[in-house]
Amino acid sequence: MARIIEKTNLNDTTIKFVVKAPEIAKKALPGQFIILRLDERGERVPFTISGVDGENVTIIVQVVGGTTMRMNGLKAGDGFLDFVGPLGKPTELDDLKGKNICVIGGGLGTAIAYPQAKYLHEIGANVDVIMGFKNKDIIILEDELENCSDNLYITTDDGSYGRQGFVTQVLENLLNEGKIYDHVLTIGPAIMMKNVVNITKVHDIPTTVSMNSIMVDGTGMCGCCRLTVGGEMKFACVDGPDFDGFLVDFDEAMNRSRNYATEEREHICNLTG
Ligand code: FES
Repeated sequence: MARIIEKTNLNDTTIKFVVKAPEIAKKALPGQFIILRLDERGERVPFTISGVDGENVTIIVQVVGGTTMRMNGLKAGDGFLDFVGPLGKPTELDDLKGKNICVIGGGLGTAIAYPQAKYLHEIGANVDVIMGFKNKDIIILEDELENCSDNLYITTDDGSYGRQGFVTQVLENLLNEGKIYDHVLTIGPAIMMKNVVNITKVHDIPTTVSMNSIMVDGTGMCGCCRLTVGGEMKFACVDGPDFDGFLVDFDEAMNRSRNYATEEREHICNLTG
């Protein structure tokens, strides 16, 4: 049982959990994730590690489905039956030392982008961060990202904070104004990453995307997280979650994630009656 040390509601739909997991904390690197299970009957759900402090691991969770609704009912002192990790390959960041990097996150993707931006900042990269949210009520990690970036741009769909619009518009404007990036890292909804890649391809900027596929075992055995990259079948859990954005078949990935929408709706109905 992995014990919850701290639970903080960052806003109405986003929760931060600090979980005691010394073995994971010892090894975890940016880009890696854990898979947790609430109890014997619970589904296995992956969450990217958003930070490590001593023996503790931080994950940030958006309440979007049955399991995350149940997690919202937990408190400090409760625990997760399984809390397994670190899984996946760490993001390759060390070669980006001294380079101009743009980190782009959307929504909860911000929680995943944060450790990447922090690590890059610490190794001496020049880091611009562009973060997009639906509205100001769901903005997270603004202070933390401010502290590890050279420039932080925040967008909201409705204009209630920062610039109105999408992260892609900010990226396009910066590039059109002559900003030069050696590499772009992006994490968020697949459609956002696809649109980022459509821009970076034109400017020939290598782009790493983090594929948040649905996962079951997290060990490459079940095939649930498969996706096509460069015409080959890959598994997000063991080959990723990071991939060369120019090679990912985003349309297929988006279709696959829609396949589970009915089951998720039924799960939520069962929980809420
Ligand atoms: Fe089963 Fe990746 S989660 S193969």
